Amino acid sequence: MQILDGKLVSAAIKAQLADKVTELKALGQKVPHLAAILVGNNPASETYVASKVKSCAEIGYHSTLLRFDEKISEKHLLDNITLLNENADIDGILVQLPLPKHINEEVVINTIDPSKDVDGFHPVNVGKMVSGLPTFIPATPYGIMLMLEHYNVPTKGKHAVVIGRSHIVGTPVSILLSRNSNPGNCTVTLTHSHTPNLKELCLQADIIVAAIGRPNFVTADMVKEGAVIVDVGINRIEDASKKSGFRLVGDVDYNAVAEKCSFITPVPGGVGPMTIAALLKNTYHAAVGQKGNMN
Ligand SMILES: NC(=O)c1ccc[n+]([C@@H]2O[C@H](COP(=O)([O-])OP(=O)(O)OC[C@H]3O[C@@H](n4cnc5c(N)ncnc54)[C@H](OP(=O)(O)O)[C@@H]3O)[C@@H](O)[C@H]2O)c1
Repeated sequence: MQILDGKLVSAAIKAQLADKVTELKALGQKVPHLAAILVGNNPASETYVASKVKSCAEIGYHSTLLRFDEKISEKHLLDNITLLNENADIDGILVQLPLPKHINEEVVINTIDPSKDVDGFHPVNVGKMVSGLPTFIPATPYGIMLMLEHYNVPTKGKHAVVIGRSHIVGTPVSILLSRNSNPGNCTVTLTHSHTPNLKELCLQADIIVAAIGRPNFVTADMVKEGAVIVDVGINRIEDASKKSGFRLVGDVDYNAVAEKCSFITPVPGGVGPMTIAALLKNTYHAAVGQKGNMN
């Protein structure tokens, strides 16, 4: 069994991007600038945004963090996004999700200029992705594809079972894995909470992508020998031995499943760091006007 080490691959991608920033500076060109919007005090969102901002600094990008109270009106939030859209110094905009219930996420995403939508959630970019056109690929699915590519994980002709059909993970992963590309060329089964025979499908899978949000959901009896396991889940479970009072686990029962599979992503240290690396790649592409990744 080989661990798909997201920390290691993301560090390599960040080092490449840092070199590109050095080149831009040497040519007297502006460095990429990411604007992140955080609404409220959701602890997980705080952590995610903090690591995105920190990663920007590490590789020489500029970043701007806009923080708003959770009671912010939708209009005020949209006005701020419009200002970022119009600001030529800002290359990429990300709005950390989830947003408070009184704010319509769809309206917010649709307000971001598609050419600055480095999370790849705007319908224009989703449409381009589905059509196989150059665009921003949503960061988590893009990170997963970069990881499979880095480790030369065989995907052609394989049966991939994706568990979870969210717009940000499951659905785009299923599209990317089924593309005529490398990685890609899988036969994909996209499953969700209404799938009656999930265990049976998983047992047929050469590749399982688990994006459910339930700790240890995928157990060893659901996995065939030699399968590839990509665990997207990030779940906080109570752990009195930790200072924080919790620890992070994935959607996969790691220790038992790892014994059976050929490749597996750990949590933490798997898909999480790859998501940030992919976001940074998208931001670079936004800054230099190339949206050719994954095509
Ligand atoms: N590593 C990263 O960078 C990263 C990035 C994004 C998300 N995540 C994590 O990934 C997990 C999933 O996130 P998400 O945003 O995709 O979640 P989500 O929007 O809540 O979607 C969860 C999906 O799981 C499906 N599901 C729930 N129970 C199921 C069951 N018993 N059997 C089969 N499918 C079931 C749901 O089906 P229905 O559609 O039928 O409800 C839904 O499609 C979370 O733990 C999240 O924190 C990690």
